[in-house]
This record gives sequence, C-alpha cells and structure tokens, in this order.
Amino acid sequence: MPAEPSTQGRTNELWGSDWPEVRDLWPLEPTVAHLNHGSYGAVPTPVLEEQQSWRDRMEANPTRFFNRELDDALAEARAAVAAFLGAPDGSMAFVPNATTGVNTVLASLRLEADDEVVLTDHSYGAVQIAVDRWTADVGAQLVVAPVDLDADDDSVRDSVLAKVGPRTRLVVLEQVTSPTARRLPLVALVPTLRERDVPVLIDGAHAPGMLDVDVAAIGADFWVGNLHKWCCAPRGTALLYAEQRWRDRTRPLVASWGEPLGFPRAFDDSGTQDPTAWLAAPRALRVLDRLDLDRVRRHNVELAVLGQREVAGALGLDPAVLPRDPAVSMQLVPLPAGIASTREEATALQARLGTDASVEVAVTDWRGQGFVRVSAHVYNAPADYARLAAELPSFL
Ligand SMILES: Cc1ncc(COP(=O)(O)O)c(C=O)c1O
Repeated sequence: MPAEPSTQGRTNELWGSDWPEVRDLWPLEPTVAHLNHGSYGAVPTPVLEEQQSWRDRMEANPTRFFNRELDDALAEARAAVAAFLGAPDGSMAFVPNATTGVNTVLASLRLEADDEVVLTDHSYGAVQIAVDRWTADVGAQLVVAPVDLDADDDSVRDSVLAKVGPRTRLVVLEQVTSPTARRLPLVALVPTLRERDVPVLIDGAHAPGMLDVDVAAIGADFWVGNLHKWCCAPRGTALLYAEQRWRDRTRPLVASWGEPLGFPRAFDDSGTQDPTAWLAAPRALRVLDRLDLDRVRRHNVELAVLGQREVAGALGLDPAVLPRDPAVSMQLVPLPAGIASTREEATALQARLGTDASVEVAVTDWRGQGFVRVSAHVYNAPADYARLAAELPSFL
C-alpha cells in the first residue's frame, strides 16, 4: 500500500487556499484516493453529527419521537428538499434510494401482458433488473433503445422514439447515465413523449447537487433522485416525484399505517425504520450552500476533466478524443480492448485498485468496452488523479 496520503501537500489549486478546511469536512481516510463519489457518495461530518443528534433524540424517548414528533419533522424536511429540487410541496415522497423509487413507479403502473417499458442501453444495471422483473412477471416486454456514446441530442431522440409504440407504458430516461457519465436530452424527449401520452420516468439518481434540478420544469410523470450521492446527505435519502394525475395510484411498496394518508405521507411509514437520514438531509443542503453550490459544481466538473486527462495520458490516449459531457462531474477513461470488458472483470479490477493501490474508483463496462469512471467532489484534489494515473498502467 502506498505510504503517502493521497492528499499529500494538502493543496488544491482548482479550489483555492481554503481547500484544507473543506477537505477536513469529510472523515474520509486520508491515505486513500476516493475517486468514486458517484457510486455511494460521502457524508461530511456536520451532516453525520446532525443525523446523530436526531438519533439521540429518537433514543431518548422513542415513543415521543415516533408518535408525536416525527410527522412534523418529516414534513419540514420534505418541504426543504422539495424547494431545493424545484418541486411543489406535496409532490415528492421520501424513499430510501432511487432503486426503490423506480420499483415503486413500476408497481404503480399495473403493467399487463404485452405492455412495453422502454430503456436506453445506458440505463443503470439495477434499473434494468427491476424493469426485467416487473415486466416478466406479467408477460410484458423490456424494450432497449440503443444510443451511441457520442450520439447527439437528435440521434438520442430518434433512437428512443423509434422504440415507442402503442403498447409503450413507460419510458425511463436518465438525467445522467451511470456506466457512461452523460446527460440524456430530456428537453428533446419529455414534451414529445407527453404529447403522445406516453408516461416518462426520469432517473435523476445523479442529478441533485450535480446539475441544477428543476423537477417541475422537466415535466415528466415521475422523477426519482438521490440526495445521498452529489448532495452528500446520509445514505438512504432519495425522493420520488409523481405528477398530480399519478399520485393516487403511487403507493409505497410496503403497505402499512401510512396507507390512508395517501401520497406523499404514506411513504413516511412503511413500518418502523430509522428516519434520521431523511431528517438530516436539509443539513447537507446547507453545507453545500455554505460552500457555494455554483462554485462546488464548477470545481467538480473542472477537476473531473483534469483527472480524466491525466489518467488518459498515462494510458497514451489522445485527450482530444475522450468521451466527455462538460456538465458532469464524472468522466470516463476508456481502457484498452479486452480489459474490464465484462461486469465481472470490471468489478475485479476495481477491487484490485482499491486493495493494492488505495485508489477507490469505479470501473464500468458498457457494450464490451471497459472504462475507468473518475468522480470529483470538493474533497478531491489533483493529487488523487495523479496517483491513479501512476498506478493504473501496472494493473492492466
Ligand atoms: C442512474 C442510476 N440510477 C439508479 C441508481 C441506484 O441508486 P441507489 O443505489 O441509491 O438506489 C444509480 C446508482 O448509482 C444510478 O447511477
């Protein structure tokens, strides 16, 4: 294991002279290069402390907390988060994660035999698995629209619309794709699909905190997004938006006491669980606000591109031809042919980089091509990517 901390020198010229204090907000191991924010996020200490103070309150008197305090506290947290995401109060429910949100939507549709659900081939693996299950159970079909990595907005639109037909009951579109780190052109697609009366679910798992999200303006039937990725909220914090006409039939996957309260409050009570992640989420938004969210976004995109160039350079790739979406704080470095070309190989390489080089980074596979996907958040510095660049060639 390398002896030097990845934040060696403790400088980040892209952020500025106050970076060491910013880095210290996160309790992340200093000896590791944490380049995989996109998968699991990372929670700053003030947010963990806020969550702990809710836990302390819960443990001091569980009956008072659950019976007499929780409803109001959740309503307040939900309103704060909905305002941040540009959604009217009452239009969003807390769910534990984007995967639960997607499954909830699929359940609400009450699919029938021969119905079709359309995804692109950039969809997240677990979302494909969910669509597979909910369609296969009733004899419906999962339909995949292939979209090239460098496809422009018109071609993405054409590829998706080519798969939409009279049996289409849902189109799922990512705001930012997971294996390929690019935005899909929602503006080019959502209004057209709505005009054709085809319901749309936006998978915004990566969007909150990374992009300026205005859920109401997107105009989709459903939207789901994680706060535990780029907003740095405690894990288990996601939001499901349902447009007015869907709210009556959008119900939690687990029926419980909340059932008669309808959307969104029914989602607050799916049996006894720890709600402190949801309650601490507004604190995460305040931390980002204090750091200046615009500055955070600019920094993250710039650093992700810098990191991509550095790692690509180490593999002898031409920086001019790398796949790149300039608004996304994750960037791809293509690996040589035959490396990480399957999910198993990608997972194995990712584990070896973490264990043997102390570099935690996502390795993705897409259409048989392996990629390293570097993430950037404000706790990262150029030295993190330099370490990956130095280590990666010897792992291939
Ligand atoms: C595009 C996309 N959708 C859904 C998910 C699932 O998120 P979660 O594991 O929080 O449910 C992810 C996770 O990385 C994702 O990237």
